[in-house]
Amino acid sequence: MKQNTLKTFKFFINEGKKHKLLLTIMIISLVFATVSSMAWYVVGRNFFAALSSGESKDIIVNSLTKTLLTIMVVELMEWIGWRGFQQAVLHFEAKCMSNINNQCFDYLQQHSYRFFTNNFVGSLVKKVTRFVRAFEQITDRLFWDMSTLALKVIIVSAVLFYLNPILGMIIVIWTIVFLTVNYKLAVYKLKFDIPKSEQDSVVTARLADTITNNTNVKLFANLGYESAKYRKETASWYEKTVKAWKVNHYIEAGQALLMIVLEFAVTYTSIILWKKDILVLADFFLIQTYMLELFRQIWGFGRNVRQIYEALADSEEMIVILDEEHEVKDAPGAKNLKISSGKVEFEKVSFSYNKAKEESVIKNLSFSVKSGEKVALIGPSGGGKSTLTKLILRLFDIKKGRILIDGQDISNVTQDSLRKQIALVPQDPILFHRSLIENIRYGNQSATNEEIMAASKMAHCHEFIKKLPHGYYTFVGERGIKLSGGQRQRVAIARAILSQAKILILDEATSSLDSESEKLIQDALKNLIKNKTTFIIAHRLSTIMNVDRIFVLENGHIIEEGTHADLVSKESGLYKKLWNLQVGGYLEDEKKEDAQVDI
Ligand SMILES: Nc1ncnc2c1ncn2[C@@H]1O[C@H](COP(=O)(O)OP(=O)(O)OP(=O)(O)O)[C@@H](O)[C@H]1O
Ligand SMILES: [Mg+2]
Repeated sequence: MKQNTLKTFKFFINEGKKHKLLLTIMIISLVFATVSSMAWYVVGRNFFAALSSGESKDIIVNSLTKTLLTIMVVELMEWIGWRGFQQAVLHFEAKCMSNINNQCFDYLQQHSYRFFTNNFVGSLVKKVTRFVRAFEQITDRLFWDMSTLALKVIIVSAVLFYLNPILGMIIVIWTIVFLTVNYKLAVYKLKFDIPKSEQDSVVTARLADTITNNTNVKLFANLGYESAKYRKETASWYEKTVKAWKVNHYIEAGQALLMIVLEFAVTYTSIILWKKDILVLADFFLIQTYMLELFRQIWGFGRNVRQIYEALADSEEMIVILDEEHEVKDAPGAKNLKISSGKVEFEKVSFSYNKAKEESVIKNLSFSVKSGEKVALIGPSGGGKSTLTKLILRLFDIKKGRILIDGQDISNVTQDSLRKQIALVPQDPILFHRSLIENIRYGNQSATNEEIMAASKMAHCHEFIKKLPHGYYTFVGERGIKLSGGQRQRVAIARAILSQAKILILDEATSSLDSESEKLIQDALKNLIKNKTTFIIAHRLSTIMNVDRIFVLENGHIIEEGTHADLVSKESGLYKKLWNLQVGGYLEDEKKEDAQVDI
């Protein structure tokens, strides 16, 4: 069995073990129901024995009536058994499935920022739902089919052995051959199931990605292009699926042949035994009905094994995720971060997104930001500004060096305590598809409605929220799509205001606002950042002129550092170039060529 298949099994078994009482009820009632159902045929045999006994009709009727009553009792027992089993299995499966769902949710959510940038939403969602459904499928197959089959095989072999050992042996040998061949084929088929299942995920991921980007598809009139790409993936899905299904059919054909062989062997042996007066007419009834029952049950065996393996294959992708260690983890015994003043230090920090690559986005960076200091990070697009802020939040672990907050290495404190005390207003805020009030409260779950309103007023979102049809209770659409970029930024600022964090990071926090709103919010931000260590990333240099220090970041290095006045006085500095470009000072032609920076 493959490593991951084994892991999935183990995961499911561990979950099942948590509900021992239900499992016991399931097993007892299943045995009770199956034994009763097989006993039916033994009792039924008496029916034929009586009919062919040659006794007088009165005696036969008497005997038939007794048999009928016994049959009724057996059927009632079977009925009770199945009801008990159904009830137990229903609770067992539902409980386990909701537990598994919760476990997937928690583990998945704790994966790193990088994990989520590398995985598609649609395919992750599908992996979780498939994993949970796989548990249901496996449990159903194992209990409803496999266990019942095992019991029936035991009963059939035992009864036929009792009738005649040769018949019993035929059944036992045939069953062993049948089950072994089927099991091997089912495992062989897995080779075809896994690629099918993986391609399934690829198709879903592409569908989800193009739905998210539907506006882009429309704007660039690229439906034809997307359609062709999608068709390519579904064509590959078709190929892989047909292969997997074909193997299925070959297996079923072989199975049917094996059954014909058994039917012949058993019936022919029965005829010979009857000739030798070892069997009587009624035994034929019992043998034939047992054979039919066995065929009915065993016919599904191959399919059941395959379904179990298919479910395991479906789960494979999720078990890999559940097995993958979280990339960013709290150190053992990590303590909560205690911020007293809010001093932030970088000591020779290097970082690259691609762990394997030497090329770093942040290169041997050292600086120290005093408590309450306001620092601006500026520089060309892609220079590493947002990356630097992600490192402070420990969304990624750094390759070399240390990041300290008030003397505490951030890799040694809990992530929750670190992030709770740092508020980030991101470049492009994404909101939950929930009401505005819930979205703002995300900054501080214990905030009252009044506090939320006050923060919204400060962030100047109150004005536009008031005008919405349901005010603060308006839903904002997936990712906040129903709000404008500026509105989303203002919601993110309100959130940050509520959070009362000691360190603030404003990553282009006002870039989507018109000049008037920006002016208003700048005033609000001034209040907000008072006494707080603040990192402000901005392309519009006029908004950061008054900060305590400006870092000019290019290619992961701080190439210039100082106050606005310091930096504009540097004749050949990048800051001065950018400043001149923005403040309307035009550059001489040759300088313009150097200033190919995106601002
Ligand atoms: N999740 C990611 N995975 C891989 N590379 C990334 C990731 N995020 C950013 N990068 C790369 O890291 C570099 C720095 O990106 P970063 O977002 O820090 O730039 P920035 O200075 O904030 O730019 P901008 O001013 O455009 O916001 C870029 O080359 C970018 O392509
Ligand atoms: Mg950025």
